[in-house]
Amino acid sequence: MPASLSVQQPNNPLRRRPLPWTFQGQALLWWPWNPRRHPPGDAVENGTLRPQAERVNIVSGSSFGKNFAVTTWGESHGPALGAVVDGCPAGIPLTVEDIQSDLNRRRPGQSAYATPRKEPDRVEILSGVFEGRTTGTPISLIIYSTNQRPRDYSQIAQFYRPGHADYTYDAKYGFRDYRGGGRSSGRETGARVAAGAVARKLLQQFDIVIKGYTQSIGPVGIDHTRFDRNEILRNPVAMPDSHAAQRAMAFLDQCRAEEDSAGGVVVCEATGLPPGLGEPVFEKLDAVLARALFSIGAVKAVEVGSGTAAPAMTGSQHNDFYRVENGDIVKETNHAGGILGGISDGSPLLLRAHFKPTPSIHQSQRTASKQGAEQDIQIEGRHDPIIVPRAVVVVEAMTALTLADYLLQRVLSDIALLRRALSKQA
Ligand SMILES: Cc1cc2nc3c(=O)[nH]c(=O)nc-3n(C[C@H](O)[C@H](O)[C@H](O)COP(=O)(O)O)c2cc1C
Repeated sequence: MPASLSVQQPNNPLRRRPLPWTFQGQALLWWPWNPRRHPPGDAVENGTLRPQAERVNIVSGSSFGKNFAVTTWGESHGPALGAVVDGCPAGIPLTVEDIQSDLNRRRPGQSAYATPRKEPDRVEILSGVFEGRTTGTPISLIIYSTNQRPRDYSQIAQFYRPGHADYTYDAKYGFRDYRGGGRSSGRETGARVAAGAVARKLLQQFDIVIKGYTQSIGPVGIDHTRFDRNEILRNPVAMPDSHAAQRAMAFLDQCRAEEDSAGGVVVCEATGLPPGLGEPVFEKLDAVLARALFSIGAVKAVEVGSGTAAPAMTGSQHNDFYRVENGDIVKETNHAGGILGGISDGSPLLLRAHFKPTPSIHQSQRTASKQGAEQDIQIEGRHDPIIVPRAVVVVEAMTALTLADYLLQRVLSDIALLRRALSKQA
C-alpha cells in the first residue's frame, strides 16, 4: 500500500491523511458509501468495508469511440502491445505499410531529441483484412517489443518519479507494473498510432486529410511567414520553419546539458471535413476531440481555433463572417477552428495540444518512497528529452479516430442519409 499524498507544508494538518476517495489505500468509485453498489450486510464487517466491496467494477478506460471503436492493450515492457479496431467498414484498401509509415514517425531512437531506445515497432495485422481490404470484422494489430531493459527501472519500483503516474497508479491499484511506466508509458501511444492509421484510411475515402506539426518548443515558436510544410519531415523537431527548428534544437541541447527536459505545442489540422459532424450536447465534436487529445500522456491543455486568444478579442473581431461563393456559404475567417455548436462547419479543423516537459529527467530530484521515506533520486533509463516531435503523429491519430467515429455517426443521425445509403439504387 503506498504512502498517502500530502501537501508540502510544515505543520499541514492534512499531511499523511489518505485521499478522501480511497479507503485503506483501495480505490472507491462512490463516496460516501453507495448502498445500491454495496448491499447492506454484505459490505460492512466490524465497521470495515470488506475487500470485495471496496472495489467496484468500472470500465477500465482502454476503449475509445462508439461506431469506429478502438481498444488498446499492452504495457511499456510487456512482450507486445496493440489495438483492436471494431466498426471499420468493409472494403477499404489497407496494407501493413499504410500503418507502418505512421508508426515510423513515432518510432524512438531516430534523433538526439528522442529516447535512444531502439524499437523497430513493426506492426502485424492479425485479423480483419483479407486480400488487402478490410472485411468489416475486428482489425487486430500487434507490435512486438524487442528492446526492453527492465533493469533500468528497478530503481523506480520503490520510488515515485515526480511528474509521472507512479504514485497515482499505486494509490489506485495498490501495486503497478513499474517497468517503463507500464500502461502509463508513452509507448502505449504506438497502439493508438496504428489504429489511427486505419481511421485515416477511412477518412481518405472522403478526401479528409489530417496533418500536424510542432508549433513551439520551450520558448521557441515558429514564424508563420517562413511556414514550409516540406520542412516538417526534414528536421527532427517536426517544425515547418527551419530557422525555428535550429533554435529549438539549440534550446534542447541546453536542456540536455542540464539533464533537464522541455515541453511544447503540437498543431493539428484536418481539411476536407464535411459540415454536420458532431452531436449535441454532451458529445460535441470539440468536447470529444478535447477528450481524445487530453487522453495522451503529458497533454495539459487543448485549444480549438482561436483558443486562449478568444477572450482578448471582441465579438466583431472573433466572429467569422459568412459569404456566399458560387452558391456555397463560406466563412471569411476561421476563428471557430471548424466547429460551431459542437458540429463541424465544413472549414478546416484547427486544434492545438500543449505538452508539459518530459517528467523523467536525469537531474537529481527530491521524492518519496513507497514506504514514505524522502530521498533524492536520479532517474536512469532512456527517456525523451522532449515528447512533442514524437507526439505529432499521436495527436493526428487521436484526431483521425474521433473524426472516423463521427463520420459514421453522421450517417446514423440523418434519415435522408440513411435512406440514401439503404435505398435499392445505392
Ligand atoms: C509519445 C510520448 C512519449 C513519452 N515519453 C516519455 C518518456 O520518455 N519519459 C517520461 O517520463 N514520460 C514520457 N511521456 C509522458 C508520460 O507518459 C506522462 O507524462 C505520464 O503518463 C503522466 O501522465 P500525465 O503527464 O498526463 O499526467 C511520453 C508521452 C508520450 C505521449
